[in-house]
Amino acid sequence: MAALLVFESMYGSTAAVAEAVAAGLADLRIPVTVCEVGVAGIPTLATRPDLLVVGAPTHQRGLSTPRTRDAARGDVATTLSRGDGVREWLDQLVAQASGQAVAVFDTALAGRLAGSAAHAIGKRLTRAGAELVMPPESFTVTGRTSGLLPDELEQARSWGRSLALFAAAAAAR
Ligand SMILES: Cc1cc2nc3c(=O)[nH]c(=O)nc-3n(C[C@H](O)[C@H](O)[C@H](O)COP(=O)(O)O)c2cc1C
Repeated sequence: MAALLVFESMYGSTAAVAEAVAAGLADLRIPVTVCEVGVAGIPTLATRPDLLVVGAPTHQRGLSTPRTRDAARGDVATTLSRGDGVREWLDQLVAQASGQAVAVFDTALAGRLAGSAAHAIGKRLTRAGAELVMPPESFTVTGRTSGLLPDELEQARSWGRSLALFAAAAAAR
C-alpha cells in the first residue's frame, strides 16, 4: 500500500500537519508522498495511490477561494501555497475519484462556528464516489496566522497511524 498526501497551506500550519500525518503513516510502514497542491498533479486511474489524503486550511467556514487566498496573501510577505488551492484541484480530480480510498483533514480555529474545509473536501469526494476510510479530522490553530495549538502535531501523527490501520482494513475488504 502507498499513500499520496496533497495539502494547501498559506502560513505553514496545514503543511506542518501534513508532514506529521505522513510521519504517522510511515510509522506503520506505509510509503507516503507529500505534495503541495500546486505541484501535485492529478492522479489518473493508472497512477492513483491506494490511499489519497487531502488537507487544507479552513477559510470562511469551508475551502479557500481565490478571494480568501488573496486576503491571506495580504497578511504576510510570502505564503506557502501561491496558486490554485484544493478547491480547484478537486474540480479536476472528481472525474476519476470513484472508488478511491480517501481521508481528509483541515486546520481551523476552535469552536462550533469555525466551519471545516475537511467536511467540504469529504463531501465533494464522496459525492464523486470516493470512500472515506476515516471521518474528516480538524487540527486547531490559535489564530489566523499564529500557528497550531501545542499538542496538534502529536495528534496529527497519531491520526496518521490510525489512518494506516483503517486504510489497511479497508483495502482488505
Ligand atoms: C481569509 C481567511 C478566512 C478564514 N476563515 C476561517 C474560518 O471561517 N474558520 C476558521 O476556523 N478559520 C478561518 N481562518 C483561519 C484559518 O483556518 C487559518 O489561517 C489556517 O488554519 C492556517 O493554516 P495554514 O497556515 O496552513 O494556512 C481564515 C483565514 C483566512 C486567511
